[in-house]
Amino acid sequence: MDYAQQTANGEIIILPSLLAADFGYLADGVRQADDAGADGLHLDIMDGHFVPNLSMGPDVVAMANRTTDIPLSVHLMMSKPAAYLERFIKAGADVLLIHIEIEGDVPAMLQQIRRLGARPGITLNPDTPAEAVFDVLPDVDEVLCMTVHPGYGGQHFIEGVLPKIRKLRSHIQAKGLCVDINVDGGIDLQTIRPAAAAGANVFVAGTSLYRAANMPESVAAMRALAGQFYDSMKE
Ligand code: DX5
Ligand code: ZN
Repeated sequence: MDYAQQTANGEIIILPSLLAADFGYLADGVRQADDAGADGLHLDIMDGHFVPNLSMGPDVVAMANRTTDIPLSVHLMMSKPAAYLERFIKAGADVLLIHIEIEGDVPAMLQQIRRLGARPGITLNPDTPAEAVFDVLPDVDEVLCMTVHPGYGGQHFIEGVLPKIRKLRSHIQAKGLCVDINVDGGIDLQTIRPAAAAGANVFVAGTSLYRAANMPESVAAMRALAGQFYDSMKE
């Protein structure tokens, strides 16, 4: 199950990031996102090498898959993800995002993700230019623009990434491709506005949603705001 139909219809997607949930009660964190009306759940996989932090692995994805029916978007912050793609998809990943900055044959990995039945996505760190992913765009359903340096939740949104989002959206539009643009890092009720106006349509939010007084209200408010500001550049 994925949200391809929703985004094809121009709908906004809101994904709480499980990294910000209480790790003592992770299944509750999964249910909380589902109960809040989120469109899916974002899971951050860190290998202690591509980023300095360690987080979770395929067993946590499998737990989330047993716990909810909403789509699971799995963000691999790993230097060498090739040997793990199948495990994550078998564990229940509906979307599998790898980074462009890694070692190895990125197009081959993206094609493998698609062959294995998941939506392939490519991720860019804040300092990586839009042009770095132009060649792989035909192989992906999603692009993820990091709006913080990856590795930790709770950081500040980097505004300098906005021109890159705009450039990616207009390039995708000019090429007639159908690619969703995710933003991840420091997304809240303020920063979601410029991100949507720049052309992002999938929003990952950890701290702002899991620390919200009322997650269902915050999910709805984010979705409404993003819908108001979103610029698909179609016209
Ligand atoms: C950071 C992760 C993010 C993180 C976002 O490396 O990729 O998904 O959970 O957290 P917030 O929303 O707290 O910045
Ligand atoms: Zn992430």
